[in-house]
Amino acid sequence: MELTVKTSHPYKIRIESGCLNQVGMHAGQLFPAGAKAMIVGDTNVLPIYGDAVEHALTQNGFSCFRFMFPAGEQSKRLSVVEQIYCALADSRFTRSDFIVALGGGVTGDMAGFAAATFLRGIRFLQIPTSLLAQIDSSVGGKTGVDLPQGKNLVGAFHQPSLVLIDPQTLATLPPRYFSDGMGEAVKYGCIKSRALFDLLRTAGENVGSDPAFLEKMITDCVDIKREVVEHDELDTGERMLLNFGHTFGHALEKLYDFRKLSHGEAVGIGMVMMTRLSEKAGLTKPGTADEIAEVLQKYQLPVCDEMGLEKIFEATAVDKKSNGHSLRVILLKEIGSSLIQTYSREEFSKFCGLKDGMWHE
Ligand code: NAD
Ligand code: GLY
Repeated sequence: MELTVKTSHPYKIRIESGCLNQVGMHAGQLFPAGAKAMIVGDTNVLPIYGDAVEHALTQNGFSCFRFMFPAGEQSKRLSVVEQIYCALADSRFTRSDFIVALGGGVTGDMAGFAAATFLRGIRFLQIPTSLLAQIDSSVGGKTGVDLPQGKNLVGAFHQPSLVLIDPQTLATLPPRYFSDGMGEAVKYGCIKSRALFDLLRTAGENVGSDPAFLEKMITDCVDIKREVVEHDELDTGERMLLNFGHTFGHALEKLYDFRKLSHGEAVGIGMVMMTRLSEKAGLTKPGTADEIAEVLQKYQLPVCDEMGLEKIFEATAVDKKSNGHSLRVILLKEIGSSLIQTYSREEFSKFCGLKDGMWHE
C-alpha cells in the first residue's frame, strides 16, 4: 500500500512486509547516485536491521555510515544530536546526502531533528520499527528532543522524504511496546473512525503475528494521521485531535516521573478518564468510556489508576495545550467523532467534578 502526504514537502509512505529491504531502490528515486547515507539507530534496533538496510543502500550505489546510540528516551537529548552532527561533519555530509532514521520514535524524532538542523536542513528517510513509530511518530514531520525540564521542548517541523513501514520488523518488538502502540491505534479509532475501532474491537487473538491484520491496521491509522497532518501541518488546529487522552496521560506520566506507566498506557487511562467525565457532563454518548476500556484491556492496557483526580488535575496546569489561563482538551461525541474544547481553569475544574471549582497550582 502506498499513500502520499500532501504537506509543504509532499512524500510517500509505503506500508508493506519486507519493504525495508527495498530502501535502496526507493532512495535511488530521491537522491543522487553515490550520495552518502547516515543510518541512525539505537543499540536494540541497529544490530538487528542495520545490515539489511546498509546492504540495500550500498547495492544501489550509496555510501553508508552508521550512528548508534543507547536505546531509551534518556538518549533523546541535545548532547546526542551533537554527536550525530559531528559524525555527519566528520564524514563530510553535504545537502545532497541524507539520514536514515531506523528505529522507534526516539530515533525518528532525534535523527529527524538532526536532519532538520544540520547544514540548516538535509533530507531524511523514516524506517519506523516500533508500532508507535509506524502509526504515529514517523509521519507528520514533528522532530525534536527532550530537555531536563520536559519532553519534546526543542524541535522543528521537518517532513521526511519517504516513510518505509515494514510490519515484519514488529516481530522483534518487545510485547509491552506492541501494546503501547495498540493504545495509539485505539486512539485513532476513537477520534476519527468507528470502522477502525470495530476492527480493533473484533480482531482475533495474536494480532501481532497476523501480517494481513497489521498491514490493514497500520494503513488505516497512517491514513488518518495523513489526513489530519495535511489539514494542519503546523499543529494549530485539527492536529490537536491526535492528543486525545494526552491531557491526563501526560499528567500521569509526569506524576510517576515517567517510571510506572508507558506513554501508551498513560494515554489509554487518559482516554477513559476524560470520556467518563465528558459522559457525566452530557457531552459524550453514554457507554463510550466502557467501550474504550474494553478494547484497551483486550490489548493488555490499563484503564484506570490509583492516582487521585485532584493530583492529576493539578499536573495538567503545565500541559503544553494550556496557555496558563485555559486548556484545550479533546473530547468524543461518540466513537469516531471528536472535538476540541477550550476550558478556563475554573470550567475545567468543574468539568472534572472538583469541589471548590478552583485550579490547584
Ligand atoms: P523507542 O524509540 O524508545 O522504542 C521503544 C523500544 O523498542 C526501544 O527500546 C527500542 O530500541 C525498541 N525497538 C523499537 N523497534 C524495535 C524492533 N523492531 N525490534 C526490537 N526492539 C525495537 O520509543 P517509541 O515507543 O517507539 O517512541 C516513543 C517516542 O516517540 C517518544 O520520544 C515520543 O515523544 C515520540 N513521539 C513522537 C511523535 C511525533 O509525532 N514525532 C509522536 C508520538 C511519539
Ligand atoms: N503525535 C502527535 C502529532 O503528530 O501531532
